[in-house]
Amino acid sequence: MRYGHFDDAAREYVITRPDTPRSWINYLGSRLYGGIVTQNAGGYSFYRSGGTGRVLRMRFNGVPVDEPGRFVYLRDDATGDYWSASWQPVGKPLGEYDARVRHGLGYSVFEAGYAGIRSELTTFIPAGQAFEYWSLEVHNPGPDARTISVFSYAELANEWSYRQDLENLQYSQYVVVCRYRDGMIHRRNSTREADSDLWFAVAGADVVGFDTDRDAFLGPYHTQANPLAVERGECSGSEATGDNACASLQVRLELAPGERRQVIFCLGVGNPDEPWRDERPRIGAPAGDPPLPPGRQVMAEYATPERVAAELAALRAEWAERLGTLQVTTPDPTLDSMVNVWHAYQTHMTFSWSRGVSLVEAGDRDGLGYRDTAQDCLAVTHAIPAAVRERLDMLLTAQTAEGGGLPLVKPLTHTPGSEPTPALEQYRSDDALWLPIAVAAVVGESGDQGYLAQVLPFADHGEATVLDHLLRALDFSLAHRGSNGLVQGLAADWNDCLQFGTTGESMFSTFLLANGLRVVGELAAAAGRDDVADRCASGLAELAPAIDAAWDGDWFIRGISATGAALGSVEADEGRIYLEPNVWAAISGATSRERAERAMDAVHEHLATEHGVALCDPPHTHPMEGIGLSLLVFPPGHKENGGIFCHANSWAIVAEAVLGRGDRAYDYYRSYLPAKGDGDADPRQEVHQAEPYVYSQFTHGPSSPRFGQARNPWLTGTASWTYVAVTQYLLGVRPEVGGLRVDPCLPTAWDGFEMTRAFRGRTVRVRVRNPEHVSRGVVSMEVDGVPVVGNLAPESMLRDGSVLDVRLG
Ligand code: GLC
Repeated sequence: MRYGHFDDAAREYVITRPDTPRSWINYLGSRLYGGIVTQNAGGYSFYRSGGTGRVLRMRFNGVPVDEPGRFVYLRDDATGDYWSASWQPVGKPLGEYDARVRHGLGYSVFEAGYAGIRSELTTFIPAGQAFEYWSLEVHNPGPDARTISVFSYAELANEWSYRQDLENLQYSQYVVVCRYRDGMIHRRNSTREADSDLWFAVAGADVVGFDTDRDAFLGPYHTQANPLAVERGECSGSEATGDNACASLQVRLELAPGERRQVIFCLGVGNPDEPWRDERPRIGAPAGDPPLPPGRQVMAEYATPERVAAELAALRAEWAERLGTLQVTTPDPTLDSMVNVWHAYQTHMTFSWSRGVSLVEAGDRDGLGYRDTAQDCLAVTHAIPAAVRERLDMLLTAQTAEGGGLPLVKPLTHTPGSEPTPALEQYRSDDALWLPIAVAAVVGESGDQGYLAQVLPFADHGEATVLDHLLRALDFSLAHRGSNGLVQGLAADWNDCLQFGTTGESMFSTFLLANGLRVVGELAAAAGRDDVADRCASGLAELAPAIDAAWDGDWFIRGISATGAALGSVEADEGRIYLEPNVWAAISGATSRERAERAMDAVHEHLATEHGVALCDPPHTHPMEGIGLSLLVFPPGHKENGGIFCHANSWAIVAEAVLGRGDRAYDYYRSYLPAKGDGDADPRQEVHQAEPYVYSQFTHGPSSPRFGQARNPWLTGTASWTYVAVTQYLLGVRPEVGGLRVDPCLPTAWDGFEMTRAFRGRTVRVRVRNPEHVSRGVVSMEVDGVPVVGNLAPESMLRDGSVLDVRLG
């Protein structure tokens, strides 16, 4: 079954059947004001924070799963028949109701045809603004005049805090006040301290009715599918004082044959009539931010058809520019659709929203996970270098003076110098070990080695240069090793569900440490700090015997329990082989090529499936002494317990590319590509279920009865790392301090590819030809016709518009 397809020219994903197996969502807005929207206009909005700035309410995991939302009802006043501008919530039979949803970058459009009326609802948040548009065009293509009533419906949260709003009902239901005055709905909270103004209004037609009390609009035992006000054909003029607020404005359109009308609903943060400043101390606007303008002023300025069109065009242009920083043309059109549009967009959403706002992430994870954030930076460094640098600075200041990372960084309240120091067992052993890669990405992209000398505070006390921050991270892990010489696993390593504690040891973190020592050694050498490079080399030498001993015959073990037993060992019945240590063995370069190849062959033999590589096999069903296996909460084949954890799949691509095995690297890439099959006669959308245009956190593994079904889409490290894997390892274009390295590792069937990429203020074009059909090996490279020795295009030779001609052989 096919539910939709890519439209690359428009940079849209077009959903032609809205009854998708799961909600297929899109993201709107910026970190100031954002939202999510499903293919049925379900979803919610938030101001600055999904957890503590909730604007539109979402009843998570409700039935249906994506309500409430941004709903607009249309009613034929002659017959009383009504429908919605999105297929749901009214849900007319799909044979009679014609639906097409276009998810674009930062906007979604709902096209509908029913009962001889066509409509198009466009929803987006204009750049830099704290309000959203729901712009509705209604067209009467028929020969008769029609009278159509249009009703908006937004369920406004009673409280900024999503938990207060949904759970603390004895409070939240009694503080809300929602009024209608002079065309504007104004929701506020009756306590001044928790000032919570929102406004809602419409332009393009006169308001003929309103409801601001949810229960009055819906009516008892009615639902969003059949609100009483819509059924009856008129709002009741209710105003909420307590209970629940809503924003419903009714307008009536008299449409002559062939006539089109546009009405523009807007929902914004702030006061309708006065400038508004967020005074909440926890989440306040940064000092110096201008107050939000009055809603009435916003309506006058923005709620015209011309302005809506201009704002949408500006938004689209902004995204085109952002994504224009890296574009590819390869023999694989699905890869192109993903890398050029949707995958890239997903990396930006993941960077913006971390793990905070989706239909799965309800708001509880409102903060930045240390490791997640460091990895999220990797995919967007070339596109938004300033934002990445700012984020990375913050992360460095969330490292404690002893070298570990704070497990959760709260950007709105983070106070370097006075954060508490965690106890050893509270640290995750990998968190700060992601810093070397992230710093190397920033330095490689910018060429700014001065960054290494920048002084930044630690989270708890003291300060040091960025390079010394990196050394502290490495020293912390070198110092906290167990009796076998491997890094202590502490509260978790990358795998949140493995707790090795302070006595057990993690092979993942050991390889990540080895990788960090290599990366920092290279950075230091390039910066002329041989002393630091030597320290890194001796750290690696110190680790080598323990790494050597962790070889289990065909692969590397996953770790050692507090009681000395190996996890991920050839002899075990459960969790015999794990993906993470084996990919990082190859990526870090901390083992021999022969072992790395054998380990990756074992991964292929035991873990690879048609939908991706499982995280471990066989999955666990029993606890193990001396290790916290919290993955046992998941049935076999789910998530970390033997699921296809897509984030870690990206490392299998990188590992195979490092080994030069391009066919297998590409097979891995294709195996979990969400859009796989999109261009084929028989796309696998029904099996995959989640959005085909973005990556999910995991796919059910072979031991699960749901094998192949993807879950937890959008906000996942899969997006960031797969983007790195495909652009920097498969296609092999990597920024380095000295210039741009071109080291592709391609499937042998490919003739080559092209990439246009931003690099240090220039745009360069890389043309790779592969006439011999090899995987790897640059035999010649020219920059603007001038031959270069090796495969590094030095920065000094690159100008804006430079062409790099690369030949493999
Ligand atoms: C989730 C977490 C991430 C962790 C991964 C594996 O994606 O956000 O931090 O590394 O699970 O457990």
